[in-house]
Amino acid sequence: MKHTKVKNLLNSETTISEVNAKGWVRTFRNNQFIALNDGSTINNIQCVVDFENTPEETLKRITTGAAISVTGALVESKGAGQKYEIQVAKLEILGDSDAEKFPMQPKKHSLEFLRENAHLRVRTNAFGAIMRVRSVLAFAVHQYFQEKGFVYVNTPVITGADAEGAGEMFQVTSLPLDNLPKNEEGNIDYKKDFFGKHTNLTVSGQLEGETFAMALGQIYTFGPTFRAENSNTSRHLAEFWMIEPEVAFNDLNDNMDLAEDFIQYAIKYTMDKCQDDLKFLESRLAEEDKSKPQAERSEMSLLEKLNFVLENNFKRVSYTEAIDILRDSTPNKKKKFSYIINEWGADLQSEHERYLVEKHFKCPVILFDYPANIKAFYMRLNEDGKTVRAMDILFPGIGEIVGGSQREERYEVLVEKMKALGIDEEELWWYLDTRRFGSAVHSGFGLGFERLVLFVTGMTNIRDVIPFPRTPQNAEF
Ligand code: 4AD
Ligand code: MG
Repeated sequence: MKHTKVKNLLNSETTISEVNAKGWVRTFRNNQFIALNDGSTINNIQCVVDFENTPEETLKRITTGAAISVTGALVESKGAGQKYEIQVAKLEILGDSDAEKFPMQPKKHSLEFLRENAHLRVRTNAFGAIMRVRSVLAFAVHQYFQEKGFVYVNTPVITGADAEGAGEMFQVTSLPLDNLPKNEEGNIDYKKDFFGKHTNLTVSGQLEGETFAMALGQIYTFGPTFRAENSNTSRHLAEFWMIEPEVAFNDLNDNMDLAEDFIQYAIKYTMDKCQDDLKFLESRLAEEDKSKPQAERSEMSLLEKLNFVLENNFKRVSYTEAIDILRDSTPNKKKKFSYIINEWGADLQSEHERYLVEKHFKCPVILFDYPANIKAFYMRLNEDGKTVRAMDILFPGIGEIVGGSQREERYEVLVEKMKALGIDEEELWWYLDTRRFGSAVHSGFGLGFERLVLFVTGMTNIRDVIPFPRTPQNAEF
């Protein structure tokens, strides 16, 4: 008999005389009640075992973590909180799980412990919920752009370009590391390498994406991105997923409109599709909050927070205005920040971003028109000659979730900028071609997918929203 997903059984319109379910035992109470989960939903189905007619040997093997198959009638449940249960007629142990050794005991585990067991943590309620939400969010991304006629582009993972010019790249080589070929100058001879040149893992698909936008009009990428930044924070991964739309003829304002509309759509879509999981995550957070002092508890529940973002426009603020606000908020340089912004031109630290979003505006903020010297080479220089048409979107509890800009479409200005920064024109000849042949105003942005998953799930550490996190000193799985 073909098994039915627990989600479908729980949503059944009628009782059914015979069903089969397969999944993993969460708990087994009183030698009678199995809570069975198959990953299709946060909810377990209760399976009632006829213990008097089940061999003692079999009962002993119904342990947390075991894979089982149950066949029986789907009947109305007398227990609270569930509509149906399975009256087990036939039970089969598919895979035993040693109760003493199985790490995912039915109790609350610390997130640190669960990270060390990333291959098994997905069997817990919280991680099951997070991973289903992540999957739906990813689908929402495609749904949004496909509905709008964007073309999905797969930009290369291995590339010769440093798109961000930040030098945080993982190098890719096929050369023998213990016997590197050297050229006449004594440097590593990358001509002998697989690609005949120095290559790395991509830090962003933007530059390749731009070339496609200048033919297909509107494109998006959605793929893995790699950064060897040695920052061990709760917001950074060495391998993360980025969504990068790029649109020909869009200026910075269009870019802001697109980003805001897209984020709201993805959140709304996921709220509609993941109600049970989000309710579970909400109650998990509320529970966690109870153990915190009053001042640290969140003012809004998870769903209130998500609804707030849907119902309120993002506040658009220029960098210059933001600096004024930050200066005014530190009268006499009181110790509000560990790093005090004194001058126009300074880069904002995450503490400043968080202040603007969480304390000052109390809503998502789009900061735009940053000083040219703290942003990447490809951003469109403003008429003032000192700011660029950059935008960062800052979210409460997260900080930067999006980085984007209107691109410098003027060939001469771009080349000048690259020269000033020592970026090799010859390396990026293909990128410059977009400015030589049919150049036009265009804009795009990158959304860090895990940061969006963080926001939607209410989790606080980015390691907990990606299946197998890659961070400094950690690539165990
Ligand atoms: O601001 P970033 O560096 O912008 C770019 O890469 C542009 N090329 C994007 C574009 O315009 N097409 O990165 C974009 C976003 C950040 O706002 C952040 O959400 C996320 O990517 N991000 C990271 N997420 C997790 N771990 C990291 N190490 C991240 N670095 C950036
Ligand atoms: Mg950025």
